[in-house]
Amino acid sequence: MTTFVFRWGIISTGKIATAFVKDLLVDPKTRDVHDVVHKVVAVGSRTTEKAQEFINTNAGGASSIKAYGSYREVYADKDVDAIYIGTPHTCHYLNALDAIKAGKHVLCEKPVTSNGHELRALLSAADDEGVFFMEAVWTRFQPLCLEVKKLIESGSLGPPVVLQADLSGNFDIQKIPKTHRILDPALGGGALLDLGPYPLVWAIMALYEHPDNKLSAPSVSASMLKTPLTGVDSNTAFTLTFDTAELRAQAVLSCSINLNSVNPGVIIRFERGTIKIYPPIYCPKEYTVEYFDDEGSVTKAEKRVFEYVGGGWHFQADEVARCVRDGKNQSSLWNHNKSLLEMGIFDEVRKQGGYRFPLGVERVVE
Ligand SMILES: NC(=O)c1ccc[n+]([C@@H]2O[C@H](COP(=O)([O-])OP(=O)(O)OC[C@H]3O[C@@H](n4cnc5c(N)ncnc54)[C@H](OP(=O)(O)O)[C@@H]3O)[C@@H](O)[C@H]2O)c1
Repeated sequence: MTTFVFRWGIISTGKIATAFVKDLLVDPKTRDVHDVVHKVVAVGSRTTEKAQEFINTNAGGASSIKAYGSYREVYADKDVDAIYIGTPHTCHYLNALDAIKAGKHVLCEKPVTSNGHELRALLSAADDEGVFFMEAVWTRFQPLCLEVKKLIESGSLGPPVVLQADLSGNFDIQKIPKTHRILDPALGGGALLDLGPYPLVWAIMALYEHPDNKLSAPSVSASMLKTPLTGVDSNTAFTLTFDTAELRAQAVLSCSINLNSVNPGVIIRFERGTIKIYPPIYCPKEYTVEYFDDEGSVTKAEKRVFEYVGGGWHFQADEVARCVRDGKNQSSLWNHNKSLLEMGIFDEVRKQGGYRFPLGVERVVE
């Protein structure tokens, strides 16, 4: 088998771009991947100095990696196959659009855009240019999640009934500057857009993708508690109701920026058992499953633990490389429709919760 070499251009030098690049540099053989390898060929930052410092710190200063003082130079680089975008949420739309128009394949951090309108515009541009586009929902590609999906769909636990999931993180909001991306409404701050994708991805994996649901969209009920500091949501709760002929189930989801995570972070309750996922739910390494008898008593319990080299971001990178190699414009695991569903739900949660971004933040509004 020939190995496909996939060449990445990295946009921005923040926390998540650092984690992603470190994972790209992990030898794929450590995760039993032999058909693709990743190369970082360019890094773009708002200053060349920061781009170079990022390469020095995270890639041993490799002289083969070009440091650019603008994002546009990375999009224009002929050696780059795909762009990874790790800027704040409200920058994603314009960054991704520029990359797509330059004819590059794109992996864009979550939440993929500020709203559903922006996403539809991006998908249309990606279609026009014939490039691959994916939101970086890395959880969907991790080994534990793939195994739990199989377990759910095997039917051995019966139909799913209720899924509870929470992701919280204590950002110390009383102390950090109001310009921090988690607090600044101009950067899409708040719990929903930053942390909400993860409880939601579990609901999408377990319920939306469940064969009995036949990809029906759920109804949404939501409320938001906003911090007086800047008006962004500090705490959000939303319920998704799947009410079809064959699947009747609910997801009860929440996220907070002023609390630590709860443990277990995800509980999926079935007619004949329960799956518990332990934190962090964006990159879980451990789950348990309990099977019930007819009286609801536990008859069997199993614990599964996963280990691999790296942070877990590389699995989605492998997927992007394979899709591009195989001429696909989207991944079947986290496809465009799932991002559209996610952004539609977030738009509805913000509407019900009364959270509007400042004028001009959303680049496409209809
Ligand atoms: N997948 C995950 O697990 C995960 C985890 C955390 C965050 N994220 C997502 O990744 C994105 C970035 O999060 P992060 O925690 O990495 O943020 P961060 O550390 O603040 O980094 C953001 C980077 O974006 C660039 N940037 C461009 N315009 C900016 C602006 N107006 N203000 C601030 N920075 C700007 C900066 O890089 P330059 O100065 O080099 O241009 C900055 O370093 C968010 O959308 C977030 O939801 C994903």
